[in-house]
Amino acid sequence: MLKIIAAENIKDTGKNAADIVTEVIKNKPDAVLGLATGSSPIEMYRELVARCARGEISFKQVKSVNLDEYVGLAPDHDQSYAYFMHHNLFDSVDIDVANTNLPNGLASDPAAECKRYDAVVASMGGIDLQVLGIGLNGHIGFNEPSDAFTEGTGLVDLTQSTIDANSRFFENKSLVPTQAFSMGVGQIMSAKKILLIATGEAKAQILERALFGEITPRVPASVLRRADDVVVCADRAALSVILKNHPDSVEFQ
Ligand code: F6R
Repeated sequence: MLKIIAAENIKDTGKNAADIVTEVIKNKPDAVLGLATGSSPIEMYRELVARCARGEISFKQVKSVNLDEYVGLAPDHDQSYAYFMHHNLFDSVDIDVANTNLPNGLASDPAAECKRYDAVVASMGGIDLQVLGIGLNGHIGFNEPSDAFTEGTGLVDLTQSTIDANSRFFENKSLVPTQAFSMGVGQIMSAKKILLIATGEAKAQILERALFGEITPRVPASVLRRADDVVVCADRAALSVILKNHPDSVEFQ
């Protein structure tokens, strides 16, 4: 089942997304969360940090696996996804850092690192909630458009569109990583519940293609429609095309 929950703005989108995470943790305090980085989940993390500070939720028993990490960046590099997770969530909630996992961007043997991360994901015994953003080209994790849906963790060559989109965070383009480790589409799809967050006008076209166009590995996020339980939390801007063409599919909260 696919549910699209709209909010007027980015902040309320973050609250809607945080409600879903909160419900999963309340029902299962030792839930396994698949986590994403990037701008889309930032407001959700901010809201979760606030709820944890108020004692409304606890991450004490939560375990996490992140979707991806740039190749070549150390965990303390301020653009690494490890740094992002510490800065936006781990350092500000009561999670046991030993229970958090990301691919190692500095791994010297990429094939071995993919195997290690597959074993980490498998050892979780199932992801209860997978959080995702969507790339401008429809990627989820760093599964870029291709001829087939990926299965397990892979070393990915980022497309020019992704490198350009990511360059806003780096001082100059030559510093933007061109490769990443990413969980595969099969691993993402194995999650019991999936939460896709999208905000901003720039995502409006691809969101409509992913949710209403052909299901194809050329638009990796389109595969989510084959999952049993998918919730999309988005703002009015990201939903502008869907609201025009499929207004009945959206509920405002
Ligand atoms: C991040 C990730 C990516 C992003 C996507 C959207 O861990 O896996 O798929 O979710 O690139 O990025 P933002 O949210 O910055 O627009």
